[in-house]
Amino acid sequence: MTDLTSRKDEALRLIQGASSLAELDEQRVAALGKKGWVSLELKSLGGMSPEERQEAAPAIQAVRGEIADAIAAKKDALEQAELEAQLASETVDLTLPAPESPRGSIHPVSQVMDELAEIFADLGFAVATGPEIEDDWHNFTALNMDESHPARAMHDTFYFPDTAAGAGAASGNEAADPKRMLLRTHTSPVQIRSMVEQGAPIRLIAPGRVYRSDSDATHTPMFHQVEGLVIDRDIHLGHLKWTLETFFKAFFEREDIVLRLRPSYFPFTEPSVEVDVGYSNEGGRRVVGGHGDDDGHDWMELGGSGMVNPRVLEFAGIDPKEWQGFAFGLGIDRIAMLKYGMNDLRAFFDGDPRWLKHYGFSPFDQPTLSAGVGVRP
Ligand code: PHE
Repeated sequence: MTDLTSRKDEALRLIQGASSLAELDEQRVAALGKKGWVSLELKSLGGMSPEERQEAAPAIQAVRGEIADAIAAKKDALEQAELEAQLASETVDLTLPAPESPRGSIHPVSQVMDELAEIFADLGFAVATGPEIEDDWHNFTALNMDESHPARAMHDTFYFPDTAAGAGAASGNEAADPKRMLLRTHTSPVQIRSMVEQGAPIRLIAPGRVYRSDSDATHTPMFHQVEGLVIDRDIHLGHLKWTLETFFKAFFEREDIVLRLRPSYFPFTEPSVEVDVGYSNEGGRRVVGGHGDDDGHDWMELGGSGMVNPRVLEFAGIDPKEWQGFAFGLGIDRIAMLKYGMNDLRAFFDGDPRWLKHYGFSPFDQPTLSAGVGVRP
């Protein structure tokens, strides 16, 4: 009996002294576990005579109860202490920077479109948009390309099979239907829509997706262009050249940009010029800058442009005797590749997150003229 009491006291002392939940559990196992001493005492009752058992059992049961109660009380106390310690150590330091949460990145095409808007806004240009599903009249006819115009054939147009009245298709004379729908082959129809809607004067850019049935290493069926249109009084080719030069200097962030305007033909501009920029090859990479005829340099075509054809102004309801202007169309994907050093156009549209992680931009890197229009992430 005294033995039982002293073992109990010792157990209670150890339970009281436990400094952690793990230590407390050790004590529980030692006393109440399957092979714990209290359990063994209880088991030993089985080997006693009924009289002996009657005498010994209450004491052992009482010890078991006392120890179980002590463990439960100590457990509460330890848990409470643990919580308090945790609360004390977990004070929030509001002056620390917040942990970075995962976020996506801005596609280089979107980034370059933002850069374009930023630079041209500084030159007083608004941003205009138009539908990607366009009709034949806006995409071709009003741009001085009537049904028989050979330039239409160069556009590899995606037509919708049974749009408008369907009369064109039925009669086998599809091109005659001005409402026949197609995926716009260039951003130039936005010129027409803007002139019809707002009249002169105009100063806008229109970036966006365009579509041609064309696919190889340097052509994808969908790509991006930016259209530029200025309509005002006394506008001449010099304004066009200055505008493009100023834009490219800001965009590529270098002063040594040399443009070459090469005579060309577009039905909607007269005269028409192709815009080439001088570049050099540095370690297998094309770097814009310098005169294309200089040693180690060459010219690269970036787009088309010219003075808006008076016929186009007439189509759009603007009096060509009073107003004139210039227009240009540049390939956004190409200038993005040049500026940021990609060499495969197709990767732009593969949707591979690894490529985007490498070439993408932080959503917080808004291009600004003061901080630089093309900050690397
Ligand atoms: N729309 C023409 C093209 O896609 C480019 C261009 C635009 C040319 C404006 C002249 C003026 O090829």
